[in-house]
Amino acid sequence: MGDNEYLFQSNRLGFRLWRNDDLAPFSALNADEDVMEHFPKTLTVVEVKKLIDKLSQHHLTHGITYYATDLLETKEFIGMIGLAHQQYKTEFTPAIDIGWRLSKNAWGQGYATEGARRCLEYAFDHLKIDKIISVCTMKNLKSENVMKKIGMIKIGEFDHPDVHNHPTYQRHKCYQILNPNPSN
Ligand SMILES: CC(C)(COP(=O)(O)OP(=O)(O)OC[C@H]1O[C@@H](n2cnc3c(N)ncnc32)[C@H](O)[C@@H]1OP(=O)(O)O)[C@@H](O)C(=O)NCCC(=O)NCCS
Repeated sequence: MGDNEYLFQSNRLGFRLWRNDDLAPFSALNADEDVMEHFPKTLTVVEVKKLIDKLSQHHLTHGITYYATDLLETKEFIGMIGLAHQQYKTEFTPAIDIGWRLSKNAWGQGYATEGARRCLEYAFDHLKIDKIISVCTMKNLKSENVMKKIGMIKIGEFDHPDVHNHPTYQRHKCYQILNPNPSN
């Protein structure tokens, strides 16, 4: 695959649209109980296929998505990092959020933070988005750590309206960062 398939890159990562051959590695990632510790359940291959279709459609509709993310050096797919419109109803939404989900063997190397910083830069400088939020469950400290490291500030907590009958996963923290060079 040529580097020109990447929409944009950071030092070590390439961000691209989803391909059919992402299904196997993305299914393995979403079937890993450690990766999905802070979600109500792991995902089946059928659910991951639907998720990939949804992420592709999101890009067609909105021009952003959680991008398929590769290591530039090896072209290995390591998961998703990116941006998405969130419409669920809370005091913080509708808003564009930043999110990440990486395979376990890619943790602990700074990839999530590097990728998130690059996506923020893309959102602020290229897309001229004024504000980005990010949310995680109360115990997802690894994700919250990324939010803090990229300069986001906690603005509140909420019960996620899309999570039902899962007390552990319902309560969320919300972080926010403003574009330092707002468009107006
Ligand atoms: C959340 C998630 C993406 C975070 O990944 P991560 O690898 O822990 O995050 P980072 O990129 O910040 O890297 C973590 C560590 O790598 C270390 N590191 C190693 N080499 C590094 C380098 N070259 N540059 C920067 N950091 C480096 C850092 O010390 C850092 O730890 P610290 O902040 O405690 O010092 C990952 O845990 C994950 O996919 N979780 C499951 C899915 C999930 O919960 N998603 C979020 C839903 S809200």
